[in-house]
Amino acid sequence: MNLEKIVCQCNEITGLEVKEFLEKEEIKSLEELIEKMPIGDKCESCVVDGFDDDGYSLDKIFKKLGK
Ligand code: FES
Repeated sequence: MNLEKIVCQCNEITGLEVKEFLEKEEIKSLEELIEKMPIGDKCESCVVDGFDDDGYSLDKIFKKLGK
């Protein structure tokens, strides 16, 4: 998994930033992540399919990196 990749284009947030946020804030669910971080709040494609439809979705990232 390439954590350098931007996973939310409109907020320019990379996978690495998501990882750090998950650890720092002890986020327990995808819903909580979207609520607390400025991410995934403007479109749905980044949440479900990945912004470029390449599988780098917030859902997948959370499943890999989240608790
Ligand atoms: S790319 Fe930012 S909310 Fe979807």
